Amino acid sequence: MNEVMKSILSRRSIRSFQEKQVENEKLDLVLQAAINAPNGMHQEPWHFTVLQSPGLLRKLDTLVAGEGKSFFYHAPTLVIVSIEQGNRFAQADTACAMTNMMQAAHSLGLGSVWCNRINGNSELDTKLSEYGVPEGFQVTATLALGYAQGSESEARKPKEGTISYVR
Ligand SMILES: Cc1cc2nc3c(=O)[nH]c(=O)nc-3n(C[C@H](O)[C@H](O)[C@H](O)COP(=O)(O)O)c2cc1C
Repeated sequence: MNEVMKSILSRRSIRSFQEKQVENEKLDLVLQAAINAPNGMHQEPWHFTVLQSPGLLRKLDTLVAGEGKSFFYHAPTLVIVSIEQGNRFAQADTACAMTNMMQAAHSLGLGSVWCNRINGNSELDTKLSEYGVPEGFQVTATLALGYAQGSESEARKPKEGTISYVR
């Protein structure tokens, strides 16, 4: 099996992170993967906010999860994905960018997990300029990113019967 396939098949969501911050070189590559993802009609209607300020990260986590809880698994970096409001490919473009970032992160020895809570909460979705989300953009997903804490996640056994061939 080639290296790309091995990497795709071995990626798992990571939900426990070291305090160690992601190096800028690796971070840049993860963001390059995001902005090179496929997107509907090549509109690139997205914005990626890399939130690394510990104070703001904690504040946003408390806003989303409640006092003393973490929805972002205490990751040292959070990539907030937002899409121009009203764009009809918002969810699909988000998924493409998120998948590219998760795969890129994994290939670089980083761990990540898609954190969804902000999405769908219109109170929060469009009022995050304090956290670097541009005006007129709606948050569609966030990616918790960092170095995994602890051992490798267990291998996954995909659900059976989800592929059929018609030849
Ligand atoms: C649309 C979407 C939303 C998700 N939201 C969350 C989330 O809010 N919190 C979380 O821990 N994982 C979240 N995940 C990760 C999934 O739980 C995970 O991908 C799934 O259990 C399969 O496990 P794997 O990624 O390790 O292969 C989300 C994944 C997707 C695609």
